Amino acid sequence: MTVSYRERRTTVAQILSNGTIGDTVEATGWVKTSRFSKNVSFVHVMDGSTVRTLQVVLSAEDALEFKTRLVIGAAVKIAGSLVESPAKGQTVELAPTKIEVLGDCDASEYPLQKKRTSLEHLRTMQHLRPRTNTFQSLFRVRNALAWQIHKFFQERGFQWIHTPIITSSDCEGAGEMFAVVAGDDPAAFFGEPAFMTVSGQLEVEAFASSFSDVYTFGPTFRAENSNTTRHASEFWMIEPEIAFADLGDVISLATDFMKTVTAGTLAQCPDDFAFFDARIEPGLIETLNKAIESEFAVISYDEAIALLMASGKKFEYKVAPGAHLQSEHERYLAEEHFQGPVFVTDYPIEQKSFYMRVNDDGRTVAATDLLVPRIGEVIGGSQREERFDVLHEQMTLRGIDTATYDWYLDLRRFGSVPHGGFGLGFERMLMWLTGMKNIRDVLPYPRTPGATGL
Ligand code: 4AD
Ligand code: MG
Repeated sequence: MTVSYRERRTTVAQILSNGTIGDTVEATGWVKTSRFSKNVSFVHVMDGSTVRTLQVVLSAEDALEFKTRLVIGAAVKIAGSLVESPAKGQTVELAPTKIEVLGDCDASEYPLQKKRTSLEHLRTMQHLRPRTNTFQSLFRVRNALAWQIHKFFQERGFQWIHTPIITSSDCEGAGEMFAVVAGDDPAAFFGEPAFMTVSGQLEVEAFASSFSDVYTFGPTFRAENSNTTRHASEFWMIEPEIAFADLGDVISLATDFMKTVTAGTLAQCPDDFAFFDARIEPGLIETLNKAIESEFAVISYDEAIALLMASGKKFEYKVAPGAHLQSEHERYLAEEHFQGPVFVTDYPIEQKSFYMRVNDDGRTVAATDLLVPRIGEVIGGSQREERFDVLHEQMTLRGIDTATYDWYLDLRRFGSVPHGGFGLGFERMLMWLTGMKNIRDVLPYPRTPGATGL
């Protein structure tokens, strides 16, 4: 009979939370720290399952035999029994009966040493940084956040739709698309120019027009040359789209979403959040809990401009009616004025994309951005223009080729209903949750202008 890998090998998380004295276990992982001294020698082993490490106390003979090999970075398999641990913060430790070094690690060459390496320097080792405390916690939270997002939508009956990565529609109309080319002729392969998607929204609207409540969750690409701490060329976006809904419904969905998903992620990863709170952003957990319990403010763009002009703050970019809200303005509103998340609604029509619903004033659209402290915009959304004539006119005014988007116009020809949705930048949400300051440090393999990665 074959034994499943899970019966053979116990994770460090399982050992530390369920292990009882006398259990025999086989632990595997990488040496995080080790200490050899006359009186006592031990190694701490991590395997990614928890913030915590398994303490293995070595006999004098084992210490002598393995001293040069049980060093930081070495991969090990250690069998033994659990004994009571005198050390603080853990009830058990491992007394080994068999130690195997599966993968030696030359400490003189290993780039990750005991002393802390800067996040910047770690960016040059994207393949090794997942072994550090910060990135161990970060990627566990990233995983938990993704899970909580799916859970949120699945529990509310939303269908997850896999919108295409290769597309010919430019949803945001900003021309910031990476071309997909095979050979020299851009249209040779697909018969028309093709690009990497900047948003799944247009395509998912067809599914909202048939399944009512849907969402996308996938990679998104933008060829904008903004070298900031908040822009990546490849990032992940979550885009719910709901039918029979107006802007107020979109805002209430986004509010419920942010609060529920934040609370769920905090609950799923308490140890990791304790790490971020202690090492990355002091007070983090308290501010997140405060946001969960607070009412999110909602103000119009006009009100935002008035607030900024009355603030007496010196901004780099001047504030005036009709001006774009820059990230410094967004952060002032969320960080200083409201000290929490704030929805800004009803932006000037010329600032936003063609698909947003034109308000009765003819001057603004039923759009909303959600701004949060430290980050600025995390969500951009709107009610969509469901009226064929108005949508057609907006496209024509903006010089969009209506023939290319005829399928999109069809959705307004055949059974059109009021609908809307939003796009959440997954990495920006992760920055908000963890306190990490640079988008390059929340992506497994960040791609930004001038840097493809390894
Ligand atoms: O505001 P955006 O451009 O909105 C859309 O794409 C809509 N189609 C969404 C929708 O209504 N379904 O992008 C949505 C969010 C932004 O608020 C931001 O959080 C994130 O995506 N985002 C980026 N994140 C990282 N790097 C970039 N270059 C980003 N561009 C946008
Ligand atoms: Mg936006």
